[in-house]
Amino acid sequence: MKNIVIKIGGSLIFSEDLEINIQQIIKFCKVIKTNQHYDKVIIVCGGGIIARNYISAIRSVHSNETSNDIMGIKISRINARLLMEVFGEIAFPEIPKQFKELAQALLFNKIILMGGLQPGQSTTSVALEVAEFIDADQVVILTNVNGIYDKDPNKFDDAKLIKNLTLDKLQNLIIKDSNEKQAAAGEYRIFDAVSLQIMKRSKIKVYVVSGTNLDEFTKIWIGESDFNGTVISN
Ligand code: UTP
Repeated sequence: MKNIVIKIGGSLIFSEDLEINIQQIIKFCKVIKTNQHYDKVIIVCGGGIIARNYISAIRSVHSNETSNDIMGIKISRINARLLMEVFGEIAFPEIPKQFKELAQALLFNKIILMGGLQPGQSTTSVALEVAEFIDADQVVILTNVNGIYDKDPNKFDDAKLIKNLTLDKLQNLIIKDSNEKQAAAGEYRIFDAVSLQIMKRSKIKVYVVSGTNLDEFTKIWIGESDFNGTVISN
């Protein structure tokens, strides 16, 4: 049996007009329920537009980035709670907020839902930290595009999907992106510096695929190696 960590971006949980994508969450839950090949399953939820809205509102009254991050963490945990309700009795009924609580939750053989852990990072970093902690074989990152592109596919029509990405190439993409926008609460992009460091030391295989259409994720979930998305490895 294998262990897996899945990160579900906040953009999949909420639409841009702030509706909860409940039908999509139910579909995701069905995929997870129908094929249980894994021993330990942890699902980490992002904060999405709700977190960014809260962060930008409080940024107009103070510039304490740690407080802003804490706001993002709280929202990601509420999103995790939402998924926990949809998963019902197969889910562990608490959201672990630290590794000690995660270790205890792991004793119950349930699917574990999580949000953020500490300021200064994204929920992608949480997914990688947790994957390292449970010795996961893979991390799957579900996002609202088909994988990692050479430039933002929402802005550039000629953006190309990168099927295989080395950590060096990923580092270059992160540096290019951070020149345009410094790391700040709510602004950590798919991969931030912390997640890169953890990938380097843990050598966990990371897949980035669409969560809007769950076909590619389903292939990974049932163990197929041929899917459309990005594989990041050493
Ligand atoms: P994310 O930025 O990871 O959520 O967390 P997202 O927007 O859903 O992710 P993507 O963009 O789709 O991949 C929301 C915010 O919560 C704070 C950060 O401010 C982050 O931007 N956060 C999250 C932390 O400070 N620490 C954590 O461990 C997790």
